[in-house]
Amino acid sequence: MMTSTPTALTTLQNKRVLLGLCGGIAAYKAAELCRLLVGAGAEVQVVMTKGAQEFITPLTMQALSGQPVHTELLDPAAEAAMGHIQLARWADLILVAPASANFMARLAHGEASDLLTAVCLARRSPLALAPAMNQAMWSNATTMANLGLLESAGVLMFGPASGAQACGDVGPGRLLEPSELLQLCAMQFATGALAGKKVVITAGPTREAIDPVRYLSNHSSGKMGYAVAAAAIEAGAEVVLISGPTGLPVPDRCQLVPVTSALDMLAACESHPADIFIAVAAVADYRVARPAAAKIKKSAEELTLNLVRNPDILATIAGSKPRPFCVGFAAETEHLADYAKEKLRSKKLDMIFANDAIATFGNDAASITAYWPGGETTFEPQSKAQLARRMIALISQRSSTTDA
Ligand code: PMT
Repeated sequence: MMTSTPTALTTLQNKRVLLGLCGGIAAYKAAELCRLLVGAGAEVQVVMTKGAQEFITPLTMQALSGQPVHTELLDPAAEAAMGHIQLARWADLILVAPASANFMARLAHGEASDLLTAVCLARRSPLALAPAMNQAMWSNATTMANLGLLESAGVLMFGPASGAQACGDVGPGRLLEPSELLQLCAMQFATGALAGKKVVITAGPTREAIDPVRYLSNHSSGKMGYAVAAAAIEAGAEVVLISGPTGLPVPDRCQLVPVTSALDMLAACESHPADIFIAVAAVADYRVARPAAAKIKKSAEELTLNLVRNPDILATIAGSKPRPFCVGFAAETEHLADYAKEKLRSKKLDMIFANDAIATFGNDAASITAYWPGGETTFEPQSKAQLARRMIALISQRSSTTDA
């Protein structure tokens, strides 16, 4: 029996888990699993097959998940609200527990005959099945063949366990215990890809003082930088988050260094050496040359501010020796690819992520294109949390190639 370590469980914080239930006596254990997932900080949406509803009511699962339960594929109202494509897009992980032999057979052969199979077919996230069935059904050659098909399609199998079954048989086919399933879910997000690496991330806006009560700044909310920090932590890195003012909650297990101006941010970056440096912050390019010591009083019709260039933090770190693997971001309103590639070259970066400024500033979702010398890839629109995991996976892959 696996034990739930608090460290592993923090990886479920704010993760979106779609819990699918098939018919079977083990369906009652899904209620406890749902409670544990919600308790670990996950957002849970439940999809139930007709068979599952014979064993446990949608009301029970609604009460435990705190969300309406989804049951119908061809319900116009449900499709208008959160249809199967939306549900599939929403999920960070799909877990079907219990997964019946019938469900495995339909999924293995690409059927989308109900909501749960349709969501699984339309998935963008990892899919795990926790099988539960009679031991003879599990061992049957057809089920084993379906298992092979599913595994070759990348479907994860959580269990089954072996032991006494509700029907009186003894053998493989028991649903894993809810605490074990919880642990396995948490492990999907803790990749270890950056284990042993120190990652410094800048995030949010900077504020450049005009006088003691006014400043120049921009619309960065910090959401992208904080999501990247959370994903790097999830991947096992030691993370220092050097952040301008945002008001966002600090990701668990990350060292926050709060800063205000670009000069503060540069000083903080220089005093935190890293293996990987990721500059997500929207740093003010200019600061007021001489901020007023007292509040500027309204008098003349025009006020002229004398601005001077701020140092480029990313270019400074990329020019240091020894230098970390350097990743930049570019938010542009036009010529996105050209400007991003130019920044990659001129700042001597290992990689840059280009995003549309209007669509990205302040929003919870975005799409992004990564460029590196000799390559590029685009991630379609998705939540910043999901995007950050994919960016961190790419950074980990590219930085290890560069190391080698
Ligand atoms: O915070 P959100 O609301 O979630 O929005 C996210 C974001 C749009 C701010 C983010 O995804 C993003 O694109 N950040 C970079 C913003 C930008 O366009 O920066 P830039 O083009 O001015 O600079 C290019 C790169 O150099 C960036 O990595 C920037 O952090 C860095 N830079 C820029 C100027 C400077 N003085 N020092 C720097 O380090």
